[in-house]
Amino acid sequence: MQILTKEAEHVIDVEKLTKRYGDLLAVNDISFTVRKGEVFAFLGPNGAGKTTTVEIIETIRTPTSGKVSLLGMDVTKKKRKIVRRIGVLPQEFSSFDRITVRETIQYYSRLFNCRNADIDGLIELANLKDKSKEQFKNLSGGLKQRLGIAIALVNNPDVVFLDEPTTGLDPRARREVWDVLLGLKKKGKTVFLTTHYMEEAELLADTVAIISRGSIVAMGSPEELIERNANYLALTLQSVDEKVFEIVQKMGFEPVKANHNNIKVRVQHPDDVQKILNTIKDAGASFLSLDVRKPNLEEVFLKLTGAALREDLAGGVAQ
Ligand SMILES: Nc1ncnc2c1ncn2[C@@H]1O[C@H](COP(=O)(O)OP(=O)(O)OP(=O)(O)O)[C@@H](O)[C@H]1O
Ligand SMILES: [Mg+2]
Repeated sequence: MQILTKEAEHVIDVEKLTKRYGDLLAVNDISFTVRKGEVFAFLGPNGAGKTTTVEIIETIRTPTSGKVSLLGMDVTKKKRKIVRRIGVLPQEFSSFDRITVRETIQYYSRLFNCRNADIDGLIELANLKDKSKEQFKNLSGGLKQRLGIAIALVNNPDVVFLDEPTTGLDPRARREVWDVLLGLKKKGKTVFLTTHYMEEAELLADTVAIISRGSIVAMGSPEELIERNANYLALTLQSVDEKVFEIVQKMGFEPVKANHNNIKVRVQHPDDVQKILNTIKDAGASFLSLDVRKPNLEEVFLKLTGAALREDLAGGVAQ
């Protein structure tokens, strides 16, 4: 029988972590665990405390209080050992303008004393083969980020931290970064990702923690979060007759008018959809088409962070 040590199960353990910057409470008593081999996404709006938390785990910033360990090592005590086991893509990564992709990876592998770095393997993993002779300044945003991911891997780390790797990228470049991240997961790396794109978290993450104003407001797999926080079906009726709104309202639902004569209704059960359609038909009213779907992570995120969102944009909570 294989005995799982705490290290084998838990790659990161954060217990009651708090970080203050003077009067500003940037991270407020958060706890979570990241398991080996998973993609863990920290999803939150600007100023929520994502970078602060990640950089504490990376040993770069110091916690105000709480206990944080990585691979069983205390991040405030084992900095040297920890940095050898992790890879980091910082938010707004940049590098030397006139140095080529290959030279950049070679340079960082020397800098981090990684004589055995597999430069070709990294170029391939980041899908940069065609660009290996290109200078940094000529790379698009997506290519720069992929190079940043390759650099984060020069020491063959167990855990890779990526702080908003796709912010500001166009949808296609974002997808190309996602492919690289899925490649990392296949290699068995544990990935800690921060993002404010729900689509990204929903697509890539095994576990999502939603952080808002320094606190974790929900945590679980994307499916669990949706099930727990948005357990309904969203019915859209397109190009409805004027009377449809009233018909649905009289049935006890709460329809909402949308543009193009559409109405949207939240229902708890698929049977409710059938009831609504029958009642509309019996009343001799009509609509052009309909759409029924389960809510996505975006709706959960907006529901949980809705009130806090505007204050977050203004930056943290002063206490
Ligand atoms: N070194 C610092 N000194 C003072 N305040 C800071 C410092 N770093 C961050 N803050 C503040 O702490 C709060 C959390 O910032 P943090 O950068 O951790 O958020 P974030 O979730 O990464 O945001 P973004 O999505 O904009 O990157 C913000 O209000 C920010 O202005
Ligand atoms: Mg940040």
